[in-house]
Amino acid sequence: MKLTTSLLTTTTIVVIIVLHGTDATVETTCKAAADSDKRVNYTFCIDELSNHHESPEADIWGLAKVAALVGADSAGDAMAYIKVLLNKVGIDSNEKVTLEQCLKLYFNVGYAFAEAYDKINYRNYTLGKEEVVLATSLSHKCDDAFTKATIANPLMQHSWYTTQIALVCTAITNLIK
Ligand SMILES: *[C@@H]1O[C@H](CO)[C@@H](O)[C@H](O)[C@H]1NC(C)=O
Ligand SMILES: *[C@@H]1O[C@H](CO)[C@@H](O)[C@H](O)[C@H]1NC(C)=O
Repeated sequence: MKLTTSLLTTTTIVVIIVLHGTDATVETTCKAAADSDKRVNYTFCIDELSNHHESPEADIWGLAKVAALVGADSAGDAMAYIKVLLNKVGIDSNEKVTLEQCLKLYFNVGYAFAEAYDKINYRNYTLGKEEVVLATSLSHKCDDAFTKATIANPLMQHSWYTTQIALVCTAITNLIK
């Protein structure tokens, strides 16, 4: 009984610390984004935006830009992973060609998110959202390349991430007054 009580207390303390650790603007903005577009994953939004060092000072406009930056960073992570895969010993030529295609595609995904950042920064939201749509479609082109080559896609997680952060970025941009 005593152990249970102390465990409960510890859990409560941890929960309080975690809640205080999340910025209030990130929480309310992710909630509003998820309410406005059911495809937005609230947990993902909170997790990914609150990790970024610019989030604590950001307003809604700032968080839309943070989402674009997170998207660009994740494209960089995808490229790094593709390079690791390309360096595998005895890589099959079919896989090599497909990975090289995806390396270019993810470079352009990163570029599109960087452009989205600029457009949102200049408050041209229509153009910003177009860049975000482009980023998503480029990551799907990589998935299509694996399908066409009929080889297992090692980058599904990256296109999932790209799609999720793109939905977050667009939904938050739509909340800017
Ligand atoms: C939502 O995001 C969380 C955290 O990234 C993830 O664990 C969960 O699987 C996602 N849910 C859906 C439906 O994609
Ligand atoms: C956004 O950019 C487009 C294309 O450059 C331009 O036609 C439009 O006027 C811009 N909108 C704003 C609000 O600046």
